[in-house]
Amino acid sequence: ERGEYRHYMQKEIFEQPRAVADTLEGRIGPHGILPNIFGIDADPILEKTRAIHIVACGTSYHAGMVAKYWIEQFARIPVVVEVASEYRYRDVVVPENTLFVAVSQSGETADTLAAMRESRRRGYLATFAICNVPESSVVRESDLRLMTRAGPEIGVASTKAFTTQLTAFALLALDLGRRRGLDGAKYLEHCKELQSLPRYIENALKIEPEILRIADHFINKQHALFLGRGAQFPVALEGSLKLKEISYIHAEAYPAGELKHGPLALVDENMPIVAVAPNGPLLDKLKSNLQEVRARGGELIVFADERAEMDDGTEHVAMVRVDGGGDLIAPAVFTIPLQLLAYHVAVQRGTDVDQPRNLAKSVTVE
Ligand code: F6R
Repeated sequence: ERGEYRHYMQKEIFEQPRAVADTLEGRIGPHGILPNIFGIDADPILEKTRAIHIVACGTSYHAGMVAKYWIEQFARIPVVVEVASEYRYRDVVVPENTLFVAVSQSGETADTLAAMRESRRRGYLATFAICNVPESSVVRESDLRLMTRAGPEIGVASTKAFTTQLTAFALLALDLGRRRGLDGAKYLEHCKELQSLPRYIENALKIEPEILRIADHFINKQHALFLGRGAQFPVALEGSLKLKEISYIHAEAYPAGELKHGPLALVDENMPIVAVAPNGPLLDKLKSNLQEVRARGGELIVFADERAEMDDGTEHVAMVRVDGGGDLIAPAVFTIPLQLLAYHVAVQRGTDVDQPRNLAKSVTVE
């Protein structure tokens, strides 16, 4: 039931604090991640893991892209992330002791399932599923698993599935980190930070009224560009996917540093640019990318961390402050304004938000 909400998508966006809290429930204790949360056979496999291949489609693929940053940072394990429809037909090199990870909300996506079956022939250490449907094929056929507990997702555009996948990946990244030399104090600090994610999401949802105003800038636009750096680049990709699938505005995402290598040529007053600006070492680099955009007359909409020092007023059309929390959870937190933006632009354009044209919730054909 949609209850007080106008669409399932809006309801599912607002369910995220609960969905993430449920996904964390019973998985972290006072001394860190609890034993056996990935299954009773997981321990020897995770101890042995020396490389990871993550395979998925669409939004789930974007979650895998964020996970790469985390796993490489915390566990120093090399990660390859690939869309399932490419992975399955490619002659993939599988180093010894590589873990195959399939990510899927539905657990029935044809390409993801086929890629997982193909992986059986490719000599992996084991297969690991991150999935939202316990009785699905992906879960039944995997050796290890971590269920997201988003509950049923009705809106075709994936929202709470994504943030719960990020939550599951953060658990995996921290667990691997602990096994592979992540400093004990840092590990516990990040576990705490992860537990605070539902609160930060709750807080980010409060900016909805500001988003409503910003959505105005997009109603008559045909194109939009999303920019991010580091682990926020996949968040920008996810924001652009949401906008295109429900509002039918052509949107692209770029790592901000790539701007001058081509896409800057597109920038003029008809091209709104959405930038995600968390606080961190890449902030200054991002700011100079944004100046390049502003100098070409591009409308800049910036979602900036509360602590990020931004030059208020001159260099953007709209700036919204978001408390992103720590480095680990910031990608999940900054996803919220982008979901809300896509949602409100689509509502104002009068599209069928929950059932966008040409798309199906579960893509069980190739
Ligand atoms: C986008 C969206 C799709 C799915 C993709 C994979 O909003 O919903 O891109 O993410 O079809 O679906 P699952 O995760 O069920 O394998």
